Amino acid sequence: MHLIKTGYGRLTYYAWENGTIVIDVIEILPEFRNKGYGSHMLKTFIEDHPKQNINLTASTLRGSTINRLIKFYESFGFIKTGKVDSVGGIDMMRWI
Ligand SMILES: CC(C)(COP(=O)(O)OP(=O)(O)OC[C@H]1O[C@@H](n2cnc3c(N)ncnc32)[C@H](O)[C@@H]1OP(=O)(O)O)[C@@H](O)C(=O)NCCC(=O)NCCS
Repeated sequence: MHLIKTGYGRLTYYAWENGTIVIDVIEILPEFRNKGYGSHMLKTFIEDHPKQNINLTASTLRGSTINRLIKFYESFGFIKTGKVDSVGGIDMMRWI
């Protein structure tokens, strides 16, 4: 597993041999949320991996915000590839 850690948050991911990346966690520290840091981190990550498909499971502890989170990832080109699962997560993919 790879870890990108900054002063305001972290992103962890796995890189598979077939070229697919699986983002495990994107988390911005609570005091820094909704200030553009998450967008910046994800945008930079995508730019740094231009030749790889990126998979993630969008999930939040509060099921009511999942649609907001889905829109967040969709704005970066991810699309839903499944339905919301029993624990409130949904699989999403960004193809090159
Ligand atoms: C989701 C998260 C990474 C976004 O980073 P951020 O720096 O707060 O986001 P930005 O300021 O760059 O962009 C704001 C957008 O983030 C999304 N967002 C912010 N807080 C959110 C929340 N609590 N739930 C869902 N989406 C959220 C929304 O799309 C928002 O846009 P909107 O205000 O138009 O709805 C961050 O809020 C976070 O760490 N949340 C808790 C952990 C988490 O749920 N991680 C995702 C696991 S898959």
